[in-house]
Amino acid sequence: MTLPLSDDRLIVALDVPHAVAGLELATRLGDAVSFYKIGLGMLTGGGLALANELKQEHGKRIFLDMKLFDIAATVEAAVRGLAQFDLDFLTVHGDPHVVRAAKEGAAGKDLKILAVTVLTSLDRGDLDEALIAPGDLRDIVATRAARALEAGADGVIASAQEAAMIRALPEAQGRLIVTPGIRPAGSAANDQKRIVTPGRAVAIGADHIVVGRPVWQATDPRAAAQAVVAELNG
Ligand code: C5P
Repeated sequence: MTLPLSDDRLIVALDVPHAVAGLELATRLGDAVSFYKIGLGMLTGGGLALANELKQEHGKRIFLDMKLFDIAATVEAAVRGLAQFDLDFLTVHGDPHVVRAAKEGAAGKDLKILAVTVLTSLDRGDLDEALIAPGDLRDIVATRAARALEAGADGVIASAQEAAMIRALPEAQGRLIVTPGIRPAGSAANDQKRIVTPGRAVAIGADHIVVGRPVWQATDPRAAAQAVVAELNG
């Protein structure tokens, strides 16, 4: 079997500080990567311009990770503005009013709105501090995912620990699950605490996996991306 050069299920997180470094990395990765995530860390470093360039001139798909949260009118206006950039995925917090407003802002565009349920960096103590309802964190994640999907989200961001549980929700039928915290066998965990391999993530229901440091910090980023593609197709 010949391996595909790239695989849309792999989204490489371009967590470098500015667009020049991002473009350099994307150039090195070439046709091994077809989908990039650009986040808030690059916003002031030309992130939107890079998103546009990768999309328009290099034909890449773009996931803009903005995790928007505000009153409905502001979210709708922000999404309407961002939708002009011809992006593929955009994140918002999964509160139903935010999701509904984001979908309004994206109306008529081919932009998928992905909801964040509970940031994976938060534990129960953080939720108590933020006055979030008592109860098991996993139950809160499942309920927030269901509500965000009911409100019209095209998908959710979920840790690999949550992906199978969310995939089983009736509300998740036909919606996307995008999973960070992925580590190919043998690569460093870095600060990620609960990691799974690319193959396992898609087996438990992820449609796309987000991989950052194992690719962009590798001595040979292109070979690292190709190894992930090989695992996804193995
Ligand atoms: O380098 P690494 O593969 O850990 O990068 C994962 C990417 O996914 C980063 O951009 C990180 O901000 C993002 N992310 C995450 N965990 C979440 C949400 C987003 O690691 N729960």
